[in-house]
Amino acid sequence: MQHIILITGAGKGIGRAIALEFSRQKRIQPAFNPILILCSRTFSDVESVSELCRSEGTKTVPFESDIANMGDIDRLLDHVLATFGTIDCLVNNAGVGRFKNLCDITEDDFDYTMSVNMKGTFFLTQKVFDVMEKKRSGHIIFITSIAAETSFKSSSVYAMSKFGQKGLVETLRLYARECNVRITNVMPGAVLTPMWDEAGDSFRNLMMMPEDIAKPVVDAYLQPSRTAIEEIVLRPVGGDINS
Ligand SMILES: NC(=O)c1ccc[n+]([C@@H]2O[C@H](COP(=O)([O-])OP(=O)(O)OC[C@H]3O[C@@H](n4cnc5c(N)ncnc54)[C@H](OP(=O)(O)O)[C@@H]3O)[C@@H](O)[C@H]2O)c1
Repeated sequence: MQHIILITGAGKGIGRAIALEFSRQKRIQPAFNPILILCSRTFSDVESVSELCRSEGTKTVPFESDIANMGDIDRLLDHVLATFGTIDCLVNNAGVGRFKNLCDITEDDFDYTMSVNMKGTFFLTQKVFDVMEKKRSGHIIFITSIAAETSFKSSSVYAMSKFGQKGLVETLRLYARECNVRITNVMPGAVLTPMWDEAGDSFRNLMMMPEDIAKPVVDAYLQPSRTAIEEIVLRPVGGDINS
């Protein structure tokens, strides 16, 4: 059976690892037939992840798209629906962070973070949920963060955006339960990805790896459709690194 799966921010980090894990599961379970639509703003990144997945036998569509841009969201979904007629899973993974002291945050930092993490995530989710609500099936997975419920001094705007995503998850779930759609909120602590490019080496050794997040995400999707894994919390074994 075909599964049409859209992963945002699939060019790097956690999104890339989720794409590779879906692909690995296809190799393990030949009856599982995912078609992965991989989006990010950098086409060369999603193209190279696509090639890796294809080399494992998984069908992929790399797509250049900025989820902060409403026109891009429409073009992405129009393409998915015109090509495949439906969508079975959205992994809302694309996200950005600017980590500074509260008083150093600029208007540009604020607008950039909100436009991707809040506006982009909201409107992409709204449009995908509309399709799933009508067909009465589907699964929307959010990669929020431990920062969606725990505060860190350097995460003021990022935390606002992630608390906001959690607000969307919880409201959406009220609608989703009425139409057989599964919602999963994944809240990781620190994961070693390009998002942490400026972190020192001492931090790096304490972090989780992207594949540690990808495996439970894909496992949640592969649960029987009667079962929704509603929340997944993952932390480095030593706890939050900047608490
Ligand atoms: N790393 C962590 O410690 C951690 C912990 C908890 C939660 N998270 C969350 O996990 C998600 C992934 O984080 P990550 O660490 O994997 O980040 P990352 O390594 O920086 O990768 C982010 C991906 O999202 C894409 N992206 C960013 N803005 C986009 C936009 N407007 N439209 C489309 N794609 C966009 C990026 O590609 P382009 O820049 O080319 O578009 C990239 O492929 C984020 O939502 C993040 O908040 C991360």
